[in-house]
Amino acid sequence: MYVCLCNAYRSDEIREVAREGAETVDEAYLMLGDALCCRRCEATAQALINEERAATEEGGPASSRASGAGATHGERTQAYPDARQ
Ligand code: FES
Repeated sequence: MYVCLCNAYRSDEIREVAREGAETVDEAYLMLGDALCCRRCEATAQALINEERAATEEGGPASSRASGAGATHGERTQAYPDARQ
């Protein structure tokens, strides 16, 4: 799932840099190559980072335990939850 439309960052990419040590969205995006732009994705991206870091500390990436579908399906987090209202 795309989380950041400005930079075309997907949730699996954000999870990967979280596992590699990114603790904030700024750190994660710099590791991926481009900084935050409009910041609409920031809360969603931070939630993914927090989830992945917590899961990694508990013994494995959250994405590998998400209903066998990796990071693309079954996620409860949406990039723009207010866009549907
Ligand atoms: S959607 Fe991520 S910075 Fe704009």
